[in-house]
Amino acid sequence: MEHVHLFVFTFLLSFIILPTVSAHLRQNYYHRTCPNVESIVRSAVTKKFQQTFVTASGTLRLFFHDCFVRGCDASVLLTSPESMAEKDSPDDISLAGDGFDTVIKAKAAVDLDPMCRNKVSCADILAMATRDVVALTGGPSYAVELGRLDGRISTKASVKHNLPNPTFNLDQLNSMFAFKGLTQTDMIALSGAHTIGFSHCGKFSKRIYNFQRGRAVDPTLNATYSRQLMQMCPRIVDPRIAINMDPITPQLFDNVYYKNLQQGKGLFTSDQSLFTDLRSRATVNLFAANSTAFQQAFVVAITKLGRVGVKTGNEGEIRRDCSAVN
Ligand code: HEM
Ligand SMILES: *[C@@H]1O[C@H](CO)[C@@H](O)[C@H](O)[C@H]1NC(C)=O
Ligand SMILES: *[C@@H]1O[C@H](CO)[C@@H](O)[C@H](O)[C@H]1NC(C)=O
Repeated sequence: MEHVHLFVFTFLLSFIILPTVSAHLRQNYYHRTCPNVESIVRSAVTKKFQQTFVTASGTLRLFFHDCFVRGCDASVLLTSPESMAEKDSPDDISLAGDGFDTVIKAKAAVDLDPMCRNKVSCADILAMATRDVVALTGGPSYAVELGRLDGRISTKASVKHNLPNPTFNLDQLNSMFAFKGLTQTDMIALSGAHTIGFSHCGKFSKRIYNFQRGRAVDPTLNATYSRQLMQMCPRIVDPRIAINMDPITPQLFDNVYYKNLQQGKGLFTSDQSLFTDLRSRATVNLFAANSTAFQQAFVVAITKLGRVGVKTGNEGEIRRDCSAVN
């Protein structure tokens, strides 16, 4: 019952706070060309989610990495025979294959409908799939804006300076997000995505074994938690081991991420700094105390994320195969 309330609430919210029409995007963009696109995508995503949970975390992270590098244009999905595409960069090599597979499956389902074939962009399919995985894991349901075109360029080199590093402090996070038009509050809300999914040990092992001269462990880490991390991630880091980022409810899109930060259980420096730094602590405390406030802020922020660098007109195309330009 509470869930239904929340759904209706966040759904209404997305009409009130956000303008229904942004620069280029709008809701129901495909109502003439492919009226059932949202339900087709939702069915394909739900089916894959039932097979594997990583569908959710993999797709959500994929959307973020797509939008921050060259805008939300599915450039992250392009492959290059010389391994020089975005997906070949060190920051994207750990993107879960199930995220890519989710888009491929949803695209195949859309193209099965003769009316829809090659009418819906891969960038929009990724945006819809992201909305669906957030809802499937217990997060807010929101109306998704559509109308993105797919880009024709994807380079390994463009990734490095456009994605945040897990060692970032608040100033570094803020400046990178501000560059994409996102506020500190947006950044904190979007970081809540780390309430689901995994991280490989190597992304944070410095915090537990080699923090700084004379201090092996990051003092902002909860001592109980750092011992658990050491058990799960031995000193000789096995690059294949991945652990839950939210140790309490790893498969739920909830506000426990922020409660964890209050207890020193943020996995990355970038997570924990949101609480350690007094300029962002009040927002963390708000989201920890009030899950509705978190959900509202997340819907606002992911909608803004979905508008970053959107391509229209002759800047892009509707790809026939999401992994290759037409
Ligand atoms: C704020 C700065 C951020 C940093 C520094 C960061 C960094 C990372 C790192 C290092 C990982 C682990 C990757 C691995 O070892 O495989 C990760 C995972 C993940 N990130 Fe972020 N991230 C940030 C923001 C975001 C945002 C804005 C989103 C989405 C809205 C997001 C969604 C995810 C998800 C869902 C995973 C889990 C992926 C999986 O289970 O396959 N992250 N992030
Ligand atoms: C550290 O975590 C434990 C439980 O895992 C919790 O009881 C304790 O309050 C936390 N410590 C701090 C300083 O938040
Ligand atoms: C939680 O946040 C929502 C949305 O901002 C607000 O309407 C509500 O009053 C807050 N609840 C509490 C208990 O503060």
